[in-house]
Amino acid sequence: MSETKLGRILMTGAAGGVGTFLRAGLPGLGWQVRGFDLVRPDEPGATEWVVGDVGDAAALDAAMRDVDVVIHLAGIPVEDRFDRILTSNIDGTYKVFDAALRAGVPRILTASSNHAVGYHERAWYRDAPIGVDVRPRPDTYYGVSKVFMEALGSFYADRHGMQVACVRIGSCFEEPRNRRMLDTWLSPADATRLFHALASAPEFDYEIVYGISANKTGWWDLEPARRLGYDPQDDSDAFAEKIEAAADGAPDPEDPEYRYLGGRFTLAVPPQE
Ligand SMILES: NC(=O)c1ccc[n+]([C@@H]2O[C@H](COP(=O)([O-])OP(=O)(O)OC[C@H]3O[C@@H](n4cnc5c(N)ncnc54)[C@H](O)[C@@H]3O)[C@@H](O)[C@H]2O)c1
Repeated sequence: MSETKLGRILMTGAAGGVGTFLRAGLPGLGWQVRGFDLVRPDEPGATEWVVGDVGDAAALDAAMRDVDVVIHLAGIPVEDRFDRILTSNIDGTYKVFDAALRAGVPRILTASSNHAVGYHERAWYRDAPIGVDVRPRPDTYYGVSKVFMEALGSFYADRHGMQVACVRIGSCFEEPRNRRMLDTWLSPADATRLFHALASAPEFDYEIVYGISANKTGWWDLEPARRLGYDPQDDSDAFAEKIEAAADGAPDPEDPEYRYLGGRFTLAVPPQE
């Protein structure tokens, strides 16, 4: 347990999967975490908590008091109807950035996604990892909302001097669940290491980084994250045997699951009503 108090983090979406991992890890590294979510997790704990909607600017203003860093995770984490994505992910992200600006919070770390670049074909990157500077190729409305998030972050960095890091998270779960996740896995402990590094790095302007572990088969360039202090310790290879044993046949390179960075999200059809 660290003795140093590094500062207060406001974490939107703190009750969710990634938020739960970060809430478990960041306090031990010296951060005070204030959660902000539609729901309060059903668990004892010392985390300060605000129940609120990122669409509610007044609730965000109150929650931003005495905050040093915002980690913005709240939103719909998969494909959905455009009107829902628009409210939660696009308008919600704008409201979080604008509240942070009003409160004078200097740094925002925001959860982008591999689906911002999901239509890039993996074969093109066989010989070199995919860089953070490839053009956006979102694979869903969800991916479009992450491209918006990255653009908004760039604008707030340039216009307002905010320090913004957009983390294109791969697959952040306890364990990789299939072959694709052997490439895209971000372990809970590495997620904590990554957000801790970005929260405590010396001053920066605007950064896009990929968020995966040190996976033997990872396709993304981790150098931008490493330059900011990220030192991943986990490798999905530890799960490869188990996943291969459960997999059905050899991977087909024409299957969208393997062909595109975004995998099956390239097949997503928004639900109709
Ligand atoms: N888990 C992954 O592997 C992964 C991969 C890429 C990107 N991401 C991104 O990381 C973030 C967190 O993902 P997750 O897997 O933890 O998702 P999750 O669904 O488990 O958590 C999202 C949280 O946001 C909250 N939320 C939703 N709308 C809200 C609103 N309007 N106001 C306040 N809170 C709201 C939900 O209640 C939930 O607790 C998301 O932005 C997601 O797009 C996650």
